[in-house]
Amino acid sequence: MKINIKLLVILAFFAGAQVKAQAVREKISLDENWKFYFGNASDPSRDFNYGITNIFRKAGEAGNTCINPDFNDTNWTSIQVPHDWAVALPFEKSSDFEMDSHGYKAIGAAHPENSIGWYRKTFTVAAKDSGNKFVLAFDGVYRESKVFINGHYLGSNFSGYSGFEFDITDYLNFHEKNVITVRVDASQFEGWFYEGAGIYRHVWLHKMNPVHIPDHGVFVHTAVKGNLAVVTAETKVLNQSFVKGSGEIVAYLTDHSGKRVASFSPQQFVLKVNESKVALLQATVTEPHLWSLEHPYLYQLVSLVKLNGRTIDSVVTKFGIRTIVIDKDKGLFVNGKPVKIQGTCNHQDHAGVGSALPDALQYYRIKLLKEMGVNAYRTSHNPPTPELLDACDELGMLVLDENRLLGSSTEVTSQFERLIERDRNHPSVFMWSIANEESAQWTTIGKRIAQTLVAKQVELDPTRTSTYAANMGNFRQGINEVIPVRGFNYHLEGIDPYRRDNPNQPIMGTEMASTVSTRGIYTKDTIRGYVPDYDTTFPDWASTAERWWKIAADREWYMGGFVWTGFDYRGEPTPYTWPCINSHFGIMDVCGFPKNLYYYYQSWWTDKPVLHINPNWNWKGKEGQPIEVACYSNMETVELFLNGKSLGKKTMARNSHLSWMVNYEPGTLKAIGWKNGKQLETTVETTDEAYELVATPDRTSIKADGKDAVVLNITVKDKKGREVPDAMNLLHFKVSAAATIIGVGNGDPSSHEADQYANGQYQRSLFNGKCQVIIQSKKIKDQIIFEATGEGLKPAKTFIHTQ
Ligand code: GAL
Repeated sequence: MKINIKLLVILAFFAGAQVKAQAVREKISLDENWKFYFGNASDPSRDFNYGITNIFRKAGEAGNTCINPDFNDTNWTSIQVPHDWAVALPFEKSSDFEMDSHGYKAIGAAHPENSIGWYRKTFTVAAKDSGNKFVLAFDGVYRESKVFINGHYLGSNFSGYSGFEFDITDYLNFHEKNVITVRVDASQFEGWFYEGAGIYRHVWLHKMNPVHIPDHGVFVHTAVKGNLAVVTAETKVLNQSFVKGSGEIVAYLTDHSGKRVASFSPQQFVLKVNESKVALLQATVTEPHLWSLEHPYLYQLVSLVKLNGRTIDSVVTKFGIRTIVIDKDKGLFVNGKPVKIQGTCNHQDHAGVGSALPDALQYYRIKLLKEMGVNAYRTSHNPPTPELLDACDELGMLVLDENRLLGSSTEVTSQFERLIERDRNHPSVFMWSIANEESAQWTTIGKRIAQTLVAKQVELDPTRTSTYAANMGNFRQGINEVIPVRGFNYHLEGIDPYRRDNPNQPIMGTEMASTVSTRGIYTKDTIRGYVPDYDTTFPDWASTAERWWKIAADREWYMGGFVWTGFDYRGEPTPYTWPCINSHFGIMDVCGFPKNLYYYYQSWWTDKPVLHINPNWNWKGKEGQPIEVACYSNMETVELFLNGKSLGKKTMARNSHLSWMVNYEPGTLKAIGWKNGKQLETTVETTDEAYELVATPDRTSIKADGKDAVVLNITVKDKKGREVPDAMNLLHFKVSAAATIIGVGNGDPSSHEADQYANGQYQRSLFNGKCQVIIQSKKIKDQIIFEATGEGLKPAKTFIHTQ
């Protein structure tokens, strides 16, 4: 509802300010000090009597279950969220499709003992805070969860990817203990990929005045006209006090540094009990700094609710000023500049930590993608964690923000609504995706649901449009009849005929290419489940990178697309099954270590000079045998030399690569590339044995806040200082008291080594010369000392400062 300002001014005159003014809002992290214990999906007696005690009979009577606030949880495990219990479970061989696609973790209906997680958290709220509103918010819990406070049932949440919240004001004990209990049931899956389990995103407690701006109650959008930007802030105010509420909404804009750049005219409001209204505020920014991929400039909208001149609520919303135009003939424009989508689809898990990523890891992953030349991220196939979008906003990455389930029931629509209302202020989000590859895509039912969802999207966010990821080739049927932007999953052969037959519908590749490769492996190994690290192998529905990108690059009307996938992820070990537990689709492995294909994309997706030789030159035992040497480069010509002898100079065709068959002899393989008269050189050398470990942290200083994290990439060098690309040594890791190791990985898609602490230690083998350790700070301001050791190897010692 929009506020009629004149009427409000009159009403405000009559309205008494009777609401008790409380402190300005606080967003309190509830990530720390949780207790965790496994329940059981099939045996109530091992599920803390849940299911056999009638806890819903009377409010707050939790009986002899662990929902009872007096339950003794001292023997439960102390954890901090984000927490993914699935990542620490053992791998289990199985012929079940779901087990295969979820990464062979012993979870799901067949494993009732591993599929229910109970969480308890005790906290207090100061007596002086009574009178405020308290909202408990979960950013994401996998999966179906039931939430209780002080023995009272608050509600349930269905999807493992949607945020949800509860008003807990009435249930709180002030100055005494409060206990939140969450029963998380991960025995049913939602996706067909590794999904994790548990409270794997942040938990917050919002403290607010009863008259306040509700969560996601601000929608800020912009219109750029010449050198002016009109900023519109639709601001909702809600009166949850028990008396009529009145006051004014005051808002202003600041630049990136916090300097005020524009103010909105204040608007008065009068609200009945439980009434909410939306004020439409507008301000103008002259000569705005536009948000772009190259300069992701962020402004801040500060929205205040004032009562008698006193601020009773304040919300800061980061946003960007930018234009997005989608032209059916010319593709995507950001701020008037054509942008071909050089995107990747990604799931949310990472090496070591599963789906419980510290925020720093979101930034780490987005930076890696950017360095490769990626400019867009598809959150396949679910609403992302909020910090991923913050990273994309701050680093300059477009986002195709995807809904999970196709549907228009109250529950399913609410998931889509929550996605849009939460994410629509992010400048990185350039489009919504209503779903992916649903079987209803061909049908009238699918079409109707899509129409309903698109209408909902336009209602909640008229500034953007939607697509749907359709694996339908050249068919304009069902969902494709009503979706504004046609998304193609694979089916390259259908793109041209579809365009010919449907010239008015913009076309984008929602899921493209899909080369499968294993980092640092050059021969197919069906026993261990490895695919060569060349752009050669792909499932029958997919294509190589090169075939796709050549088609994409040459068609102006084709907006570009999203490769399946930027990173490997757990599950979907196509083209293999057990012992493979991890996908091979990534351009980078599950740690973010580049595979060779990375350099193909980097060559054609960036302006950086790239010259990369594939494979390494350690081929002991293959002397005299032909080895395929591929060169990924954006040079005009490349000449290859083996031990100083030229193997010929070749001309690089645009969006291509070069290759030579070279009879192996140990030594140095050198490539010299030329472009515009400039020369670039790269070499790979046959190395000696591994001698010395090297640990490289992505940052050398982190916050001592118990949340910040550092990624340490471990490599090993020979005596001459050359990285040994095929080393597989088993390593052990240690970190000093100011940090904890939270996960290890190595990108081996068939490794069954523990990702987390196991058998009293942290250890991991190098996989083709690399592994990764992720450490998280504690609240201890002391230097962090990290050590990696391996038998017969000089250890690596690294120091990280804390602030
Ligand atoms: C697509 C699907 C993805 C993934 C991929 C594997 O059809 O949308 O989620 O399963 O296939 O190739």
